[in-house]
Amino acid sequence: MHFTMKDEILKRFLTAEGEPISGQVLADELNVSRTAIWKHMQTLKQEGYEFETVKKRGYKLLSVPDKVDMGQLQQFLTTERYGRQVHYYETVESTQLVAHELIRAGAPDGTVVIAEHQTAGRGRMMREWESTEGQGIWMTVIIRPDVAPHQAPQFTLVTAVAIVEAMKSSFKNFTPEIKWPNDILINGKKTTGILTEMVAEADRIQALLIGIGINVNQKIDDFPEQLQTMATSIAIEEGEPIERVHFVANVLESLEKYSDEYVKNGFGQIKQLWEQSSGTIGKRVKATTLREVVEGEAVSITESGVLEIRQANGEIKGIYSADIEL
Ligand code: BTN
Repeated sequence: MHFTMKDEILKRFLTAEGEPISGQVLADELNVSRTAIWKHMQTLKQEGYEFETVKKRGYKLLSVPDKVDMGQLQQFLTTERYGRQVHYYETVESTQLVAHELIRAGAPDGTVVIAEHQTAGRGRMMREWESTEGQGIWMTVIIRPDVAPHQAPQFTLVTAVAIVEAMKSSFKNFTPEIKWPNDILINGKKTTGILTEMVAEADRIQALLIGIGINVNQKIDDFPEQLQTMATSIAIEEGEPIERVHFVANVLESLEKYSDEYVKNGFGQIKQLWEQSSGTIGKRVKATTLREVVEGEAVSITESGVLEIRQANGEIKGIYSADIEL
C-alpha cells in the first residue's frame, strides 16, 4: 500500500496526542485546498474515526475504529517486506483463497491478506475455522523463501515461534505455549492456529501461504458452545481489550525476523525457541495420524520439524503430521 493523502492526515492526528489540528494548517502543510481536507475528514468519519470540532482550533481526534486499519498499520510497521503490500477486506470466504489468486498474479514476498470476517475460514485437515467479525486476526502472509519444498512444513514451526515471541513482548499477564505442530495455547486453551500451504514445482517453492488465525477480542460466549471449553482469546487471558492493529504489526515484524533467520542460518535458533515455549516436549501424548495412533512421551523435534515420541517399548517414532492429545 502507498501512503495516500488521507493516510497523511490520519498520521498527523494519531501523532497529535489528542491536541486539535486546524484544517487550515493541514491544508497548508499538505499543500491542498481546505475543501480537499474536509472531504478526507468526511471519509475518515465514515470509516469510524470520531472527531470533535474545537472552536477556532480545528479538529480533535476522539476515537479510532476497532479495525485493522491499513493507514495505522503502515505507521507502526518496521518491517522491510512483510505487510508492505496489504489486501484488506471486510468479508471474504477465506484469506487463503484470496492469497492463492494473488500468488498467481505474482504478489511479492511479504504480501498480506487480512479480513475482519471470513465466511468459510479453513483449518487444518479440512476443518472449519470460526472467524467471528472484527474479533480476531484472520490473515494470510504470502512468502517466497528460497528453500526446497521439503522445508515447507518447518515454516509452521517458524510461524509458531514468531507469534509466541510477539505475544511475549506485547502482553504481560500470560505465558503462551506451543502445542505441536501448529497451535498456540494459553492456559491450556487454543488461541491461535496456523495453516501452511504451498505452491511449488518439484524442486522449487513458488510461494508459501502462512495462514494465521488468532482469537483476540472474543468474550467466552462469543465462541460457539462446543468451542467454549477448548478456545480462548488474548483479551480473556490478558484481562483487557486488545488493539489489534498494533499486535498485527508485532506479529509481522516477528515473522519477518524469524523466517529470515531460518532461511539464512537454518533451524538451530528456531528449534531452541520452539522447545523453550513448547507445552508438548516432555509430556505424555497420544498422536493420531491418518494411519495410526502413537502413544508415549514427546521427546524432541528434529531439525526437520518431526515430533519424536518414545513409546512404551522404548522405540522412538517420528510423527510428521497428527492430532495431538496431551
Ligand atoms: C488450524 O488450527 O487448524 C489452522 C487455522 C488457520 C486459520 C487461519 S485464519 C486466516 C487463514 N484463512 C483461513 O481460511 N485459515 C487461516
